[in-house]
Amino acid sequence: MQNFEFYGPTHLVFGKDTIKELSRLIPKDRKILITYGGGSIKSNGVYDQVKQALQGYNVFEFGGIEPNPKFETLAKAIEIVKKEDINFLLAVGGGSVLDGTKFIALASKYTGDDDVYDAIMKHGKLPNSAVELADVITLPATGSEMNCGGVISKISTSEKLAFHSPHVFPKFSIIDPSVTFTLPVRQTINGIVDTFVHTMEFNCTYDVNSPLQDIWAMGILRTLISEAPKVLANPQDYDARANLFWCATCGLNYWISCGVPQDWSTHMIGHELTAFYGIDHGQSLAIVEPRLLRNQKVAKSYKLAKIAREVFGIQESVDLKAADMAIDKIEEFYNSIGMKTKLADYGINPQEAAEKIRERFKERNVAFGEKCAITADVAYDIVKAC
Ligand code: NZQ
Ligand code: ZN
Repeated sequence: MQNFEFYGPTHLVFGKDTIKELSRLIPKDRKILITYGGGSIKSNGVYDQVKQALQGYNVFEFGGIEPNPKFETLAKAIEIVKKEDINFLLAVGGGSVLDGTKFIALASKYTGDDDVYDAIMKHGKLPNSAVELADVITLPATGSEMNCGGVISKISTSEKLAFHSPHVFPKFSIIDPSVTFTLPVRQTINGIVDTFVHTMEFNCTYDVNSPLQDIWAMGILRTLISEAPKVLANPQDYDARANLFWCATCGLNYWISCGVPQDWSTHMIGHELTAFYGIDHGQSLAIVEPRLLRNQKVAKSYKLAKIAREVFGIQESVDLKAADMAIDKIEEFYNSIGMKTKLADYGINPQEAAEKIRERFKERNVAFGEKCAITADVAYDIVKAC
C-alpha cells in the first residue's frame, strides 16, 4: 500500500425526513444564500421543506445554476454574496448546484488582480478561505457532498475544468434518499454510471497489495449492479435508492482511494466531450470508459481480471481473457440500464471528436492515467474508437 493522508470533515446526515435538521445544523446568526438549479426542488417539495426548516433565518436565494455549472452564471451569485455579506451558502440540488456553490464560496474570497476564473481554474491561485457551505444533495452521482472538488464550465471558451480546495468541504450534507424518487430515469442512470466509473478510476489501475480497498471498491460495483434494476423497476424503492446514494457518496469521498494509485483519464476525456458537445457527464463516461479500458487492457489486466471474477463471477483463469470479458460485462451493464455507449448514439462524429481532444491535450501538454499513459495521441486513438 502507498502512503496516504485522509481528511474528511463533512458531517453527514443520512435518511428519511432529515431536511428538517437544517435548523439544528446551521447557527441562527448566519446570513444564508440558498443556491439551486432549474427548478426541480420547487416541483418535488424539497424547496418547501428547506424553507420550512429555515423559518426565522435571514435567507437569500439564487436559482438557475445549470447542469455542468457555468462560470458566467456563478459570477452573478458571487456578486450577491459580496453585496449582501452572505456568510453561509446552502446548496440544494444535484452535483452541479453543489459544485457551483463550492466555486461561489471560494471565488467570493478571491482578492487577487487576475481574472477570478483563470486564477482558480487555471493558475492554481486559490484563496486560502471560503464562505462556509453545506448542502441538501438531491442526486446520487458525484460524491460532491463529501469531497472538496468541483467541476466548472465556461461557455465563452467551451472549457470544463476541475478544482480542489480543502476550504470547500461541505460543513454538512443532508442526504434524504426519498428526494430522489422524482429523478428522471436519465439522471438516475447517469448517477449509476458516474458512481461506477469513479470506483473504477480509483480501483482499476495496478496492484499495490490493498485488499481492503479492493473489497470496498468491488462492494460498491456489486451494489450498483444489484440495486440499479430495482430503482428502474420501482423508482419509489426507498431501500434501493438509499443504497445507490450511499454508493455514490462512498464512490468519491476518497475512502477507496486511500493508499492506491488513481486513473481519472476517463473523466478527463469525458469532460472534453461535455465541453465540446454538451452531453451529460454520465453519458460521456459510458462512451469513453469501455474503449479506454480496452486500450489499457494489458497495463490494467490484473485489476480487470479481479473485477471479472469478483464482481461479475467470471470463471476464467487467464488474466488477459478475463480482462476482456470484464470490459464486455461493464458495457453490457451500462446498456442494460438504458445507457448508450457510442458517440454515434448522440450524433457525434468520433473522428472529429478525437481530433479536437487531441489538439486540446497537446495545447495543455497533459498526460493522464495512473502511469501517465494517456497522452494526447493515445486519447485520440481511444476517442476515435468510441
Ligand atoms: O437543475 P434542476 O432543476 O435541479 O434539475 C436537475 C438537473 O436538470 C435534476 N435533478 C437533480 N436532483 C433531482 C433532479 N430532478 C428531479 N429530482 C431530483 N431529486 O437533474 C439534472 C442533473 O443535475 P446535475 O446536478 O447536473 O447532475 P449530477 O449530480 O450528476 O452532477 C453533474 C456535475 O457534477 C460534475 C460533473 O462534471 C457535472 O458537471 N462532477 C462533479 C464531481 C465532484 N464534485 O467531485 C465529480 C464528478 O466526476 C463530476 O465530474
Ligand atoms: Zn464523475
